[in-house]
Amino acid sequence: DTVDWDPEDAGKGGYDHYMLKEIHGQPTALSNTIEGRIDDGDVALDALSPGTFEDVETVQFVACGTSYHAAMYGAQLLRAADVRTDVLRASEYDSMAGPVDEDTLVVAVTQSGETADTLDALRTGADRGARTLAVTNVVGSTAAREADDAVYIRAGPEVGVAATKTYSSQAVTLALLTQRIAGDVPDATPHGDRAAMLETLADLPQQVETVLETTDAEALAEEFLDSQSYFFIGNGLGHSVALEGALKFKEITYEHAEGFASGQLKHGPLALVTEASPVIAVSTGSDDDKTRTNAIEAQSRGAPIVAVGPDDHPLVDVADAHLSVPETHPVWAGLLANVQLQLLSYHAAKLLDRPIDKPRNLAKSVTVE
Ligand code: G6P
Repeated sequence: DTVDWDPEDAGKGGYDHYMLKEIHGQPTALSNTIEGRIDDGDVALDALSPGTFEDVETVQFVACGTSYHAAMYGAQLLRAADVRTDVLRASEYDSMAGPVDEDTLVVAVTQSGETADTLDALRTGADRGARTLAVTNVVGSTAAREADDAVYIRAGPEVGVAATKTYSSQAVTLALLTQRIAGDVPDATPHGDRAAMLETLADLPQQVETVLETTDAEALAEEFLDSQSYFFIGNGLGHSVALEGALKFKEITYEHAEGFASGQLKHGPLALVTEASPVIAVSTGSDDDKTRTNAIEAQSRGAPIVAVGPDDHPLVDVADAHLSVPETHPVWAGLLANVQLQLLSYHAAKLLDRPIDKPRNLAKSVTVE
């Protein structure tokens, strides 16, 4: 007897798709990302010793796609630390960068380290005098070689075109980097409860495991499979998570999905809200009032509301369905919500029989501008 065996399946380790394997690889990836980087209540990032960033006045994050959403996450934490911060889509850097000089730090966030738009922004920033830093998964990549410094996210290889574990590892690496930068920049104020925030980070890999073991995402994906559009909303740190949730959903299901800042839903998109457009509302356990009121607004137009976040939250009381995540520090809650959104996209795409690991028209790394 012979068994049909596809060499493509060999690397999937028993999972149906690389994407699912990589979603389940996140506890390990995150443990590696964090390993050795929290030292005595402070952040330790290899070459970036204290004092490295003392001349920095402005930080500009540049990135594309999923990496842009991780960059938004980091940018928001840096702003909260009172550091002048921009986050720019790398393809628009040329026209959107504004003043750049030697006190500017350009941080390129790129999993592959090879995205042409991001490399171009990095080079433009350097040409204008900025100091540069690459946050990447690939040691020896072009971004890592060309930037003045590099920080590695240590997610391990990612094969699925839709980025999953690299997003989580990027967001955590950037959160750590922001605290490192805020420790140096004059007049910056590191996160108010930095010690508690860093301490809870150690629990994140286990909490992701809990989400993976307890998720209801498959049943929900099935329940809403006939929808016309999927709207993802969130505010504060939840905004970037909502954008990432929508991007993932459209990439692999080919269904119409859009992400919005919660408060923006009423400024136009509400015209598209019907019973056939579930609103997936990300809560992080803080800053969620606008998400709640705008979700209720959509619900009164007939849209089913799915709350994604911790149990003990007012949004959950009004929602029609709930994807639960463990209680954690608000800085990390969005990353747990994102794991639920990854699973929702995955199961919807699987039910629709899409080629999940290789969506049409997309490439893992886009090396043309
Ligand atoms: C492509 C991929 C996306 C990815 C983006 C940025 O568009 O399809 O999944 O997020 O590139 O990739 P990078 O390697 O720079 O993070």
